[in-house]
Amino acid sequence: MAINKLPGPVSSSNDIRLELRSWTEVDEYLKTCKGIILPIGSTEQHGPTGAIGTDAITAEAVAREVGRQTGVLVAPTQVFGMAEHHLGFSGTMSLRPCTLIAVVHDLVLSLARNGFERVFVINGHGGNIASLKAGFAQAYTSAMSQNLHRATYLSCKLVNWFMVKKVIHKAQELYGDMEGQHATPSEISVTLHVEPSLLSKQRPLPPPSPAGPIYGYEDFQRRYPDGRMGSDPFLAKATHGKVFIEQASIALIDDLFNFLSS
Ligand code: NI
Repeated sequence: MAINKLPGPVSSSNDIRLELRSWTEVDEYLKTCKGIILPIGSTEQHGPTGAIGTDAITAEAVAREVGRQTGVLVAPTQVFGMAEHHLGFSGTMSLRPCTLIAVVHDLVLSLARNGFERVFVINGHGGNIASLKAGFAQAYTSAMSQNLHRATYLSCKLVNWFMVKKVIHKAQELYGDMEGQHATPSEISVTLHVEPSLLSKQRPLPPPSPAGPIYGYEDFQRRYPDGRMGSDPFLAKATHGKVFIEQASIALIDDLFNFLSS
């Protein structure tokens, strides 16, 4: 579809960052492509050795790689997500589900106002999924009721980089059961690749509590006292992180292409 032609690869990921464009450049971009990538993470504890920003760092790294290879613009990362269950740990900053729904709604509507029609959300945190989908539903209704330009064409798609099949298989192959469900070696590997200074935090940890249900933050702390859920993040390596970004990007570029062509 002509209006959603992939702009094509760029040499540096800086070339696709929305925050480095002027509004006139964005207007030019919209003449050929109506799509944009929005990375979203979370600011929450990731065990005793993982960075608080893990979910935002990983989503941003994957989003910028997808953007670099396709030329599709990447919005600034939404670094705060729904992390209520991690609030028992210092440094966690959470949005309530209703706040995240409102944030997503407002960001999508802002983009739609000036002609974006396809918002491709690359997510790094499982706790965001329900609120993101609810935010999309609310945005569609608002776009129609506000009679936004071409509102009927507005679509949002949620993809979770850590749920890409090849990523899951690679994590199984490298870490087996020690991948766990939170502060996983796969996500920590991506952060080590993006930010090598994080390597200094890595140290062996005692066996983790097995992953299971999550309720309130006090319950979370009782079940998972050091913040990990069944994982051994000491298995993480920067070289693995590079592979995870590549595997996730290959799959998500396909998804993005299909989404922009639909
Ligand atoms: Ni995480």
